[in-house]
Amino acid sequence: MKICCIGAGYVGGPTMAMIAKKCHDIEVAVVDLNEERIAAWNSPNLPIYEPGLQEIVEERRDKNLFFSTEVKKYIKDADVIFISVGTPTKSYGIGAGQAAELGYVEGCARMIAEVCDGPKIVIEKSTVPVRTAEVIQNVFDGYEKGDLFEILSNPEFLAEGTAISDLENPDRVLIGGDSTTEAGKKALETVVGIYNNWVPRENIITTNVWSSELSKLVANAFLAQRVSSINAISAVCEASGADVDEVANAIGKDSRIGPKFLKSSVGFGGSCFQKDILNLVYLCEHFGLADVAEYWRQVIKINEYQRKRFTRKVIHSLYNTLQGKRIAVLGFAFKKDTDDTRESAAIYICRDLIEEGADIVVYDPQVDAEEIKGLTSEKVEVASSAAEAVAGAHAVLVLTEWDEFKDLDYSALYESMVKPAHIFDGRNILDLAELEKIGFNAFGIGKA
Ligand code: UDX
Ligand code: UDX
Ligand code: ADP
Repeated sequence: MKICCIGAGYVGGPTMAMIAKKCHDIEVAVVDLNEERIAAWNSPNLPIYEPGLQEIVEERRDKNLFFSTEVKKYIKDADVIFISVGTPTKSYGIGAGQAAELGYVEGCARMIAEVCDGPKIVIEKSTVPVRTAEVIQNVFDGYEKGDLFEILSNPEFLAEGTAISDLENPDRVLIGGDSTTEAGKKALETVVGIYNNWVPRENIITTNVWSSELSKLVANAFLAQRVSSINAISAVCEASGADVDEVANAIGKDSRIGPKFLKSSVGFGGSCFQKDILNLVYLCEHFGLADVAEYWRQVIKINEYQRKRFTRKVIHSLYNTLQGKRIAVLGFAFKKDTDDTRESAAIYICRDLIEEGADIVVYDPQVDAEEIKGLTSEKVEVASSAAEAVAGAHAVLVLTEWDEFKDLDYSALYESMVKPAHIFDGRNILDLAELEKIGFNAFGIGKA
């Protein structure tokens, strides 16, 4: 069997590497129009940082895993084609700021229709609005090749930073297809068969295409909702003297609620949560469900509120003026163990602090200096260690929960700072009482 995956990003790259690792008899090609990206996949410096990825790519590359810009050749050769291109939020025209930009997906569908003359299974891997398979089918029909292809949905649930373990041991694999026709059933079996090389059959769910497409949006909306719910409660904790970590622990013990995704923070980021909720909101409005749209919109509003609340607390604690003050930001990625900064709360917080006149110096173990400057300001200083960032600062802001920030020598950092020294733990990973003992004015999220 030959697989071609269009799109060598955070989803396509790791997912195909895992298939290649687990299925040596399948030839897997990952293609992308972006030459630089493909060159990086073929080099010792992969284009994305993901624990465990490098080893798998090095093990299978040029054996049954290939990265190439020869998009058409590999599409034509493949039995199974995964579409794994970006579906960003539309920035223009109808649905601007909410709807998904499906231009890249349509582009793939057209290219597939143009170059293929034999039957193929075409799989939506990208997160797409419900009924996108219909759009793809329409494109194929337009080329009078509608009967050649079976279109399936197979959304990816991996989270960045844990992509390899998520792929190796997924809670479930979801495959949507048309089980009412013989061809549809056969295609479903083929795709189930790929994953069944390492995922137990009972963890592979098959549904109709629309359920599969919608489930991906709903999963992300529910996860983001949990974070916004606990973040909303963090404000109540600060006002009342409750502690949000204690509350989260207490409610999470109820097995109906569960302990995961209840960590209060400066707000969720990443390429998926906001984009997918906006996409869901847009769909609801499209279906005439204004109240449902408004319900989900609140999840995003609370996230924006949480970021602003944190910034306001910093400004207020620093005597309402940041002019000429040096503020050290520890962590810029949207979460630990990734170099991804998309929608990171750190971007918004830094921008607002710069607006207030602060001098920002950032340290992140993985994010590129140029990227940090590009997302904030050329004036932002980028340090190569936490100690370098903190020296001479009036305040420290922990914005990503990198493990190394837990074990810094906070006494030494305190000595190197301007007094009174402030520290704001935007991830609740530090011991505030210990920091107070050292001499810091220490603040957490949802802690009075
Ligand atoms: C609730 C809390 O569960 C309990 O912990 C607390 O001590 C008292 O309030 P109760 O109101 O008795 O208990 O019932 P619960 O099982 O929580 O159901 C509340 C309502 O939600 C019911 O109308 C139930 O039918 C509905 N429900 C519950 C759903 O519609 N769907 C569900 O998945 C769960
Ligand atoms: C998410 C989904 O988890 C994944 O299933 C989907 O395929 C893609 O989107 P990802 O965006 O990689 O994955 O990261 P995730 O771990 O979900 O975290 C998202 C954001 O929420 C991060 O900014 C994280 O710091 C924040 N978060 C998460 C919290 O603030 N508190 C939590 O308890 C959990
Ligand atoms: P994700 O996080 O969903 O993986 P990315 O933006 O990281 O998304 O990756 C999507 C990739 O798809 C990009 O590298 C982009 O160059 C590629 N791409 C988009 N359209 C096409 C196309 N028509 N043919 C090949 N590659 C494409």
